[in-house]
Amino acid sequence: MSAPRVAQLNESDWRVFANLRLRALADTLGTDDPQYRQEMSFTAAQWRRRLRVHAQFAAAIDDHLVGLVGAQRESVESVYLYSLWVAPSARGHDLAAALLTAAVHWARAQRARMVTLRVNEDNAAARAVYERLGFGVAEANGKTAGHANEITMSLSVG
Ligand SMILES: CC(C)(COP(=O)(O)OP(=O)(O)OC[C@H]1O[C@@H](n2cnc3c(N)ncnc32)[C@H](O)[C@@H]1OP(=O)(O)O)[C@@H](O)C(=O)NCCC(=O)NCCS
Repeated sequence: MSAPRVAQLNESDWRVFANLRLRALADTLGTDDPQYRQEMSFTAAQWRRRLRVHAQFAAAIDDHLVGLVGAQRESVESVYLYSLWVAPSARGHDLAAALLTAAVHWARAQRARMVTLRVNEDNAAARAVYERLGFGVAEANGKTAGHANEITMSLSVG
């Protein structure tokens, strides 16, 4: 396998982003899921807006896009990572770590002190990736209504 490339997408990449994001949603939630259906009908302006307000990092191997993670400023102190996804055919090659490393680098450049994320507590593959990069289960771990199985993990970057 060639070395993966990870790059932050910009507004002009909105078609690439839309395609990758919909692939990720279809794979993880299915095409009948309300979130897939909602984003399926996003306009160009909505995709562009998401790229403006959040940072999106995409992984590519030989020009094939195979992974995505989103990052958003949560507060002055912290950046929140969400929707990490690697295409099934590309799993098991450390692409998740490459995506997360790019997002954490971005968080540091934003002068954040903390990076947080939420993960289903049964998602052993994802949790192992986060733990390898130094994320720990956050001490104050309030369960969010509707997401009873999710835990918060955090990494200090300040
Ligand atoms: C979780 C996920 C991002 C990991 O991405 P990845 O690039 O495959 O990560 P890694 O290469 O570090 O592999 C992580 C673990 O996945 C498992 N794995 C390895 N090869 C795999 C394959 N071909 N298919 C599925 N899982 C595999 C292994 O348990 C591996 O851990 P190990 O290296 O200790 O054996 C990816 O599986 C994924 O997109 N899953 C669906 C979406 C998801 O759960 N996102 C996280 C939301 S919080």
